[in-house]
Amino acid sequence: MAFSTRFTVGFMATICVVCSALVSVAAVTLRDRHQVNALRDRQRNVLVAAGLVERGEKVSEETVAELFEARVKTLVVDLEEGTIDTSIDPTTYDPRRAAQDPEQRRRLAENSAGLVATAPYELVYELTDEDGELDAIVLPVAGRGLWSTLYGYLALEADLVTVRGIAFYEHAETPGLGGEVDSARWRASWKGRRAFDEEGKPVIAVTKGPAPPPEDEPHEVDGLSGATITANGVTGLVRFWLGEEGFGPFLARYAKERGR
Ligand SMILES: Cc1cc2nc3c(=O)[nH]c(=O)nc-3n(C[C@H](O)[C@H](O)[C@H](O)COP(=O)(O)O)c2cc1C
Repeated sequence: MAFSTRFTVGFMATICVVCSALVSVAAVTLRDRHQVNALRDRQRNVLVAAGLVERGEKVSEETVAELFEARVKTLVVDLEEGTIDTSIDPTTYDPRRAAQDPEQRRRLAENSAGLVATAPYELVYELTDEDGELDAIVLPVAGRGLWSTLYGYLALEADLVTVRGIAFYEHAETPGLGGEVDSARWRASWKGRRAFDEEGKPVIAVTKGPAPPPEDEPHEVDGLSGATITANGVTGLVRFWLGEEGFGPFLARYAKERGR
């Protein structure tokens, strides 16, 4: 049975219109869900860096949301000025997108994180304890490893000097080599180290081999065996984000306001 050309074209056009309508409806109806998932994922990673949630621990979305609601305040930080900008909504501002937008991004000279640009504002998380006192501050960090850009969070204790924890949530380093940045053992070696020297310069470094205990060597973290390039990348990116072009201006202001 032969169909007329008119019928065939009409049939194809109908199928196209119906399918594109379905895809559009799905995209629009799932958009909110997608945004909520992305937000919860970010929040979970912040809690992991701060040690409130273990990596891989089964914690419901509701628990993450509740913990955030009760204990965490999200600040929008102007990196150049070191000030907190309350005119920007932290639930919708996307620093990773802003860092790629030629209209918004802050281009950088060569730097230890190997980054070309950052967003003008970053989201910083202020954690409080049950009494409402500052417990920790969680800073986003990013920079080049060997194969990839690593994205994570670095948590500082309320003294704004001692490291609480670190957690990378996205990278493509080799499992078993650079990928050991995800191991609980390596991550634990950050806890209690001092990020800055007496002059406030970020000096913390991933060393080669195991680092002595924090009391003996407060500025060193265990090395990543067979992955010196990733390790040096992590040193560079952490120092960058704690330095003048990262959160240095913000941390200085914040410490001063709190009389630290
Ligand atoms: C398949 C393959 C994957 C590698 N992945 C990494 C990696 O993820 N991170 C890294 O620093 N080095 C990686 N390396 C090793 C580097 O090429 C380099 O030898 C290493 O960083 C040197 O570190 P070391 O002085 O601790 O041995 C890899 C090498 C090979 C052959």
